[in-house]
Amino acid sequence: MREFSRIGVVGCGLMGSGIAEVCVRAGLDVKVAERGEEALAAGRSRIVASLDRGLRSGKLSEPERQAALDSLAFTVDLDELADRDLVIEAVAELPDVKTTVFKELDRVLAGSDAVIASNTSSIPIIDLAAVTGRPQQVVGVHFFNPVPVQRLVEIIPTQLTSDAVTEQVTAFAANIRGKTVVLARDRAGFVVNALLIPYLVSAVRMLESGVASAEDIDNGMVLGCAHPMGPLRLLDLIGLDTAQSIAESMYEEYKEPLYAPPPLLRRMVAAGALGRKSGRGFYAYGD
Ligand code: CAA
Repeated sequence: MREFSRIGVVGCGLMGSGIAEVCVRAGLDVKVAERGEEALAAGRSRIVASLDRGLRSGKLSEPERQAALDSLAFTVDLDELADRDLVIEAVAELPDVKTTVFKELDRVLAGSDAVIASNTSSIPIIDLAAVTGRPQQVVGVHFFNPVPVQRLVEIIPTQLTSDAVTEQVTAFAANIRGKTVVLARDRAGFVVNALLIPYLVSAVRMLESGVASAEDIDNGMVLGCAHPMGPLRLLDLIGLDTAQSIAESMYEEYKEPLYAPPPLLRRMVAAGALGRKSGRGFYAYGD
């Protein structure tokens, strides 16, 4: 079976940086593309900080940290991904942004049999495949945040993805240390977000309707159900803008009120309260 060794990652935000990190730590050669120098520098710092954290906690040695950094390249030019055999897109969770990247990647990778994967949480993979000339080589590969910690990867073939590509990306994800794969059909939310998003937006509605404070809602689920964090703190981790986009895609797909982003979520996003990454969400985060 074909094994991927040259990985491209497009987008180096929370998810892209985590995906690049776990790939280099799995011994793969990784090139990360960002749209500007500033975003690229921020992404690179995020990866270095996470590798340093791994070093401090004894999860990787100094030679392993150095080897990871040596296998990592960065570019602001998407054309430099032309030599990759698997490219994972991890840009903003917005259909227009993703389809633009897919069209560009299809052009950059013309003439090669490279696979293009999306880390989307909820946008139909077939919509991304349809803008390329290689729909049989397009597949969903969905990681979870924080990528170095969460063990799951969802693999989502479309009606057009070839069986060989599904097998190849499944083997790729399963070979990343500590990761376990689940296979899902190409339906918005796949397995995890289809269950998680209604829960998270319900917590926002509960806060909005004054049933309990943010702390008490979160404590309820942490102490009552042994979740590692409560729903509002988890929304701050995911990013409220990302969560809103996911909820919108799912509402668009199913037209069921349980997926609809509540007014409070929309107002917070409009106010720039995006969670940890902006320093303020349901909670405040200092430096
Ligand atoms: N990078 C690398 N390692 C990290 C990390 C990061 N960003 N964050 C935490 N860790 C590691 C720490 O090094 C630590 O490891 P050790 O115990 O070996 O030292 C371990 O994870 C625990 O970290 P902390 O003690 O700092 O913090 P914690 O115990 O409160 O755990 C958490 C933090 C891992 C985020 C935990 O609270 C958790 O798992 N929360 C739930 C997260 C979750 O549900 N994620 C899924 C979001 S949904 C999604 O991603 C899909 C989508 O499409 C939206």
